[in-house]
Amino acid sequence: MHIHRIGDVTILNDASEIPGLGFLPVNAYVLHAEQPMVIDTGLSTVDKDFVSVLAEVLDPADVRWLWITHPDRDHTGGLWKLLQAAPRARLVTTFLGLGIMTCEWEIPLDRVFLLNPGQALDVGDRRLHCFRPPLFDNPSTTGFLDDRTGALFSSDCFGAPMPSAELAASADVRAVGNQLRDFQLLWASVDSPWVHQVDPARFRATVDPIRAMGASAVFSTHLPPVPQPDDQLFETVLLAPQTNPFVGPDQAALEALLATFEPAGAP
Ligand SMILES: [Fe+2]
Ligand SMILES: [Fe+2]
Repeated sequence: MHIHRIGDVTILNDASEIPGLGFLPVNAYVLHAEQPMVIDTGLSTVDKDFVSVLAEVLDPADVRWLWITHPDRDHTGGLWKLLQAAPRARLVTTFLGLGIMTCEWEIPLDRVFLLNPGQALDVGDRRLHCFRPPLFDNPSTTGFLDDRTGALFSSDCFGAPMPSAELAASADVRAVGNQLRDFQLLWASVDSPWVHQVDPARFRATVDPIRAMGASAVFSTHLPPVPQPDDQLFETVLLAPQTNPFVGPDQAALEALLATFEPAGAP
C-alpha cells in the first residue's frame, strides 16, 4: 500500500487489477480529527494486513471512529481486526449497512453509531455531514463532508479504473490527464448499472446538492485524491445516464483467455 497525506487526511492507497479495465484504486483514509476516524478498511484478500499499515500512521488504539461507507468487500478488509485493535472506536454505518455486516460478523451493538443521510456526526473539532452519493452500488452507501476543512468523502462515486498501477497510486488525480472522464464514465457504468434507467433531470437533482457543498477536496475510494475539485467532476457524473451499459466478458471470452495460459504441448 502507498501512504499519502493531504491536510488532515491520510490516504492508505491500494489497488485491484481488473482484467480488461485496468487498476482500480482502493483507498481507505484516516481523518486526523480531534477524535481520529478511519474511513473504510481496504481489500479483503488474505494477503492484506490493514491494521499493520494503519499503525504506520497512528496507533490503532487511538482510533475513535470507523466509518464504513458501505460493507462491500473492498471496504471491509480490516474492519473486524480494527474493531479489536481500537476498543474505543465506534462503527459508523446505517441500519442497512449494519444488517449486511451482521451476515458476516457479530457486531456488538454498543460499538455501533447509526447515521443517516442528512444527519451529522460530531468528532470533537468538526462535524461530518452525511449524504448519499449520487452514484453507488450498495443501498447502504453514505459519504460525508467535513465542515472544518471541506474534505468530501464520496465512497464509490467518482471512481475510475486507471491505466497503470502507478496512476492508481497517484496522490493527485490531475496526473491522469484528459482520459479521466472516460475512465470515470466506464466505472459509473460498471458500478451503478441502474444509472442508465434514471431520468436525467431527477438524477441531476441528486448531483447538484453535492456540487453545492463546495468541497475543498474529494476523496473517493476508487480514485486518486482530487485536491481542487472543479465543475468537470460533477459534469462527468451527469453524463453517466447516457453512457453505454457495461457488459462484462462472457464464458467464451474467459475460455479464450484461459487458452492463452496453457503451456505449449499441454494435453
Ligand atoms: Fe461498492
Ligand atoms: Fe468500492
